[in-house]
Amino acid sequence: MLRALLCACLLAAHLCAAGTSRTLNLRPVIVNLTKCSMVITRCNRKCLEGTSQNLAPTSIWMRINLTETDYRNIFFSINGLLLPGGNVDLETSQFSRASRIFYDLALRANKAGDFFPIWGTCQGLQQLSVLTADQNLLTDTDTEAVALPLNLTPAAESSRLFRNFPKDLMQNLAEENITSNFHRWSLSVQNFSQSALLKRFYKVLSTNSDGEKEFISTMEAHRYPFYAVQWHPEKSSFEWTDKPGMVHSTAAVRASFYTGGFFVSEAMKSHHRFSRPRQEEEALIYNFAPVYIRGRAAFVQIYYFD
Ligand SMILES: *[C@@H]1O[C@H](CO)[C@@H](O)[C@H](O)[C@H]1NC(C)=O
Ligand SMILES: *[C@@H]1O[C@H](CO)[C@@H](O)[C@H](O)[C@H]1NC(C)=O
Ligand SMILES: *[C@@H]1O[C@H](CO)[C@@H](O)[C@H](O)[C@H]1NC(C)=O
Repeated sequence: MLRALLCACLLAAHLCAAGTSRTLNLRPVIVNLTKCSMVITRCNRKCLEGTSQNLAPTSIWMRINLTETDYRNIFFSINGLLLPGGNVDLETSQFSRASRIFYDLALRANKAGDFFPIWGTCQGLQQLSVLTADQNLLTDTDTEAVALPLNLTPAAESSRLFRNFPKDLMQNLAEENITSNFHRWSLSVQNFSQSALLKRFYKVLSTNSDGEKEFISTMEAHRYPFYAVQWHPEKSSFEWTDKPGMVHSTAAVRASFYTGGFFVSEAMKSHHRFSRPRQEEEALIYNFAPVYIRGRAAFVQIYYFD
């Protein structure tokens, strides 16, 4: 019963940067690829948007088991892809298959000058590492409920992701325990360094440690608008379960908004669009109302599809 009904999405944050340039797409549409569905959100200027973050079984109006042609059509209608947290097989699941199709399309598009950004959070980072390395290099770490300060690398300051963050926020990120870690698997610095494919592709912006293994906590691609964090920027503003690792300080919430805002500003550089406005209207998350689930799960709000 629950299985049939439940397709849960946590609301995550996307503060849409106010852009005025004529070359920007001020109505970017971002797909959040989840275990059973894709959730499509539009961010327009000055809006504060929720996008889904995590999912339970079954599927929706736009299913995860689409054909490659379907994904192609969707790809050329949307302006960014969010790979959220979760718990799926990174090599055999429908999620990994859909991620690979979008990833390959995004590589090709960007190479041809058609800007298309990808963001990975937690499992999203892990999935991106598997796609780029063409193998699973992850290792078990003791990081299932802990808030950590980022060990920023020298590359962080000039990175596209962080360079426009306020100085005091960067200091908060470096010194305070404000990034939430809820993961069992990590990409260790050791395995990253031994993979020519990963090293060539990504610049490491921060690392963390579980006390034994040092792992990558933030990275961005050298030549593609692809970004990934092992931590959860969205939890501080949208998740309120009281447990270790959760942080709701002003600095943590600011980090959440700056991170979401950054990705939306990247999506604004993409000019893909639905061929018919009707098609876009039907796909948007606004067709569904999230439900407050009162402490029955880790999340606060859930979308029910089907
Ligand atoms: C996708 O899954 C749905 C629901 O399980 C099913 O009805 C549909 O036939 C599937 N489509 C493909 C292409 O496998
Ligand atoms: C490196 O990757 C392998 C999988 O290829 C994994 O078994 C191993 O635990 C990883 N080691 C470290 C230190 O990350
Ligand atoms: C704060 O971060 C440090 C690592 O710098 C870690 O050892 C410690 O467990 C964290 N404290 C909390 C309360 O999460």
